[in-house]
Amino acid sequence: MAEQFGVYRCEICGNVVSVVEPHPPELVCCGQAMTLLKAKTKEMEGEEKHVPVVQVEGNKVVVKIGSIPHPMEEKHFIELIQLFAKGKLIAEARLYPGQKPEATFLVEDASGLKAREYCNVHGLWG
Ligand SMILES: [Fe+2]
Repeated sequence: MAEQFGVYRCEICGNVVSVVEPHPPELVCCGQAMTLLKAKTKEMEGEEKHVPVVQVEGNKVVVKIGSIPHPMEEKHFIELIQLFAKGKLIAEARLYPGQKPEATFLVEDASGLKAREYCNVHGLWG
């Protein structure tokens, strides 16, 4: 069964899916099981351009990717920013080349926030 809030990639065609509600059976694409992506962290190479930086001002949350802004070029860009509160996905933003590598969200409660992002070249980070 797929993992709640999991992001999966097909190793053959490159399809990427984000799970909204998991149910059996496993996710399959191109005739084989899709790979569950594990979020890379601060300890990994390239973190300065990939690990989300979460800035909270009252109920406004700005998520920037990363401490050095990530490129947003046609062939290399941040596709998705997800915001979690206390372990639950509460908001996400789809980004495109040419945009800033950041997203702004409004939240009712700014406690327990964590962000995650997907780079089309370097994968999932958070
Ligand atoms: Fe990247």
